[in-house]
Amino acid sequence: MVIALSNSKGGVGKSTLAVHLAVSWHEEGRRVALVDADVQGSSSLWLHEAEPQLPVFRLQTPDDVLEQAPPIAAKFERVVIDGPAGLSEVTRAILLVADTALLPCGPSVLDLRAVHEALRVVRQAQQIRQGPPVPLLVPNKLQVQYRLSQELLETAKSLGIPSLPGLRLRQAYADAAGQGTVVWRLGPRGEAAATELKSLFQELTAYESPNTQRRAANG
Ligand SMILES: Nc1ncnc2c1ncn2[C@@H]1O[C@H](COP(=O)(O)OP(=O)(O)O)[C@@H](O)[C@H]1O
Ligand SMILES: [Mg+2]
Repeated sequence: MVIALSNSKGGVGKSTLAVHLAVSWHEEGRRVALVDADVQGSSSLWLHEAEPQLPVFRLQTPDDVLEQAPPIAAKFERVVIDGPAGLSEVTRAILLVADTALLPCGPSVLDLRAVHEALRVVRQAQQIRQGPPVPLLVPNKLQVQYRLSQELLETAKSLGIPSLPGLRLRQAYADAAGQGTVVWRLGPRGEAAATELKSLFQELTAYESPNTQRRAANG
């Protein structure tokens, strides 16, 4: 199963989610790899500190993604692809190889607009492939007391795509990135973040594609 972190906007939490997802599955004992398709390379550097044994591939061009992601996916149970910001050719290539496209979205008007744009490109990939990727919204940096956060949760409903449980704006996420670790290794100050992430991951597994199940069944 290939899970892509995709959105037209930077700073919405793609790399944060990619690293936490990969480490979480690795800790569960699954064979997981990370594909860092962002030239900035932030998730590969971060993961190298957090979990040095976890295989990381840096694929930086659309050709690399289209040619190398499928054989990587065949070798691993789970592949997490961290995408770049923008609806570039790399993003489009990622959407042609992913089973699931997670679309993180922060609580701003610009972020909401970016999700609309990203979703358009997801729909194009779905048309070409006559099926996947399955888009899932991930509301991020939520501050429940603010109107825009409420608006984001409402918009999530109106986009017509399923939404995973959102993540609150928490210092722990920034701390984890700064220290090259994951929130559940930060002790008590990472606890709330760890809890909300785990429930997000749990919900995500409900969307596993029949493809994975077939591959898993064939051992
Ligand atoms: N829920 C959150 N609460 C607080 N800070 C967050 C949260 N999610 C992400 N961040 C921070 O926002 C910044 C951008 O996140 P990042 O994952 O790098 O986004 P992207 O990969 O989409 O550009 C980072 O500094 C990160 O630590
Ligand atoms: Mg990033």
